[in-house]
Amino acid sequence: MSDALLVEKLDGHIAKITINRPDKLNALNKAVRQGMFEALEDLAGDDDVRVVIITGAGEKSFIAGADISEFKDARPVEQYRSMQSGNIYVALETFPKPVIAMINGFCLGGGCELAMACDMRVASTKAKLGQPEINLGLIPGAGGTQRLPRLVGEGWAMRLVMSGELISGEKAAEIGLVEVAVEPDELEAHVMTLASNIAGRSPMALQAAKESILAARRMPLDEGLKFERGWFSLLFSTDDMAEGVGAFLEKRKPEFTGS
Ligand code: COA
Repeated sequence: MSDALLVEKLDGHIAKITINRPDKLNALNKAVRQGMFEALEDLAGDDDVRVVIITGAGEKSFIAGADISEFKDARPVEQYRSMQSGNIYVALETFPKPVIAMINGFCLGGGCELAMACDMRVASTKAKLGQPEINLGLIPGAGGTQRLPRLVGEGWAMRLVMSGELISGEKAAEIGLVEVAVEPDELEAHVMTLASNIAGRSPMALQAAKESILAARRMPLDEGLKFERGWFSLLFSTDDMAEGVGAFLEKRKPEFTGS
């Protein structure tokens, strides 16, 4: 894997992916996209990993968008194909484990879209978020017109996409683009606490939760409720469910093994 992406396995079933192009504000180029695919494939199959954190290297940026230098000579059909085959956003959404975006700085364009394809978002109050593609004569191409209105409503999505304005982490939390914004020096600790909390849960229940919540986007309520019921019932076949219920009744802390 290229050094454009760092993958670390931390204690407590947590893995951290760091986009590592700080001199280019961690812009997403082909090497990063390819590395992300490989990393997600490896981590999906690694039973020791239950939660993934994604962040950007350096103090200044999470991801400042797609690498604009790759746009210069791109032709429409090639561009379409590369976005279709190299869709890390779908790969993140369908990744079978929870993914947390730790937004430490500029979170723009494809970076904001990548954060929105994660399951949870925690930002530094000083982060700057937005969809500035309009400045390039473009619109967001990786979900910005689709996931953004689902998170913040149509009015804010229109405003951010049409004006290209950047908002602070604090404002992003206010409108629901991120769940919470914390002081920059508290960001890592906040995300690690959240990740540890989630990593202590049953992996199968986490996958069921993710798939069921995402199903709500595409299913009418009756179908979604049926989908949820299917997962709920299926979890009765897991050792983790027996352990969770047993531990509650025995007044002790459960130890989930993932089986
Ligand atoms: N693609 C490629 N390179 C990028 C980039 C991007 N999306 N964002 C930043 N960079 C590069 C800059 O070209 C610069 O490289 P250089 O030092 O070789 O010239 C380096 O990262 C630092 O960026 P710089 O613009 O000097 O930093 P700044 O603090 O003055 O401005 C931003 C920061 C984020 C406001 C500015 O870089 C910017 O507007 N970037 C583009 C954001 C964008 O439009 N993203 C959506 C793309 S579809």
